[in-house]
Amino acid sequence: MAPGSVIKVIVGIIVFVVAAIWLLAKLATSGYEIDAQVMTKEAVAARLKPVGDSVASDAPPGQRTGEQVFKAICISCHGTGLAGSPKFGDAAAWAPRIAKGYDTLIDHALHGFNAMPVKGGSPDLSDDEVKRAVAYMANAGGAKFTEPPVGGAAAAASPAGASAPAAVAALDPQVVGKKIFDSVCTACHSTGAAGAPKFGDKAAWAPRLKPGIDEVVKIATKGLNAMPPKGGYTGSDAEFRAAVEYMVNASK
Ligand code: HEC
Ligand code: HEC
Repeated sequence: MAPGSVIKVIVGIIVFVVAAIWLLAKLATSGYEIDAQVMTKEAVAARLKPVGDSVASDAPPGQRTGEQVFKAICISCHGTGLAGSPKFGDAAAWAPRIAKGYDTLIDHALHGFNAMPVKGGSPDLSDDEVKRAVAYMANAGGAKFTEPPVGGAAAAASPAGASAPAAVAALDPQVVGKKIFDSVCTACHSTGAAGAPKFGDKAAWAPRLKPGIDEVVKIATKGLNAMPPKGGYTGSDAEFRAAVEYMVNASK
């Protein structure tokens, strides 16, 4: 072999060995991460669950919340506004729908309406689940409908996998949210200090609410300019969300 080819072969071997070591190291550390976690039965089950089957199966049939039904089913059209469906969180698209009233919207969701299929194409949904999903979507678009309650304590488990389902179920935004607002958020949001959108000021909140409540919660959780992460609140994410919802509901 010419000296040039020998060098090429040696370089090739080195690259191969380095790549192999890197791969082994990756395998070893990912294994370690799994071992290091406390693997509860639930965690194992969650890992084994097929992708895309996460939200709907977290609750027994008939016991899914509006959010769970939306994220499992309705989102496939309403998430993007597919086929002319009113898009989630789009207040302008939802306003004329909301004006029809909760009962009419429920009727159309249960029985179909033009390109809107019966029960969103999932006949296995209970009527109450559809009603909850309608309320969840319409509320994100500016309505204030009340979801039919989910019965049974087991059904209260939040999709985020909160460790204390009972506590989360007890999270009435109007009660918990007000408490947190009065103790933390009021400092800026009652006066508009530092450019904070003022509590109850519809004009200040309208442009912020356009992307939908989930996005607003996400932004506020991370913090935005003079808005500290979670507004400086140190409690759980669910509680912080209740505070956001309390403020938002009073401001739209
Ligand atoms: C295959 C797409 C698709 C899926 C999935 C879907 N929708 Fe729709 N939905 C539509 C379309 C399209 C419209 C608009 C129909 C129209 O106004 O002509 C609509 C409209 C609606 C309306 C407004 C009806 C009215 O009277 O203005 C509600 C409420 C609704 N959908 C609820 C739901 C719920 C709840 C789910 C999930 C369980 C769901 N949709 C799943 C396509 C879908
Ligand atoms: C130190 C002052 C301060 C405190 C305390 C505070 N905020 Fe804010 N907040 C702001 C400011 C300023 C903005 C506007 C930031 C911007 O748009 O640049 C804001 C914006 C927001 C927004 C809108 C985010 C968006 O998407 O536009 C939400 C929601 C919010 N705050 C929730 C809360 C909640 C809930 C609390 C209490 C737990 C809280 N804030 C406490 C200053 C504060």
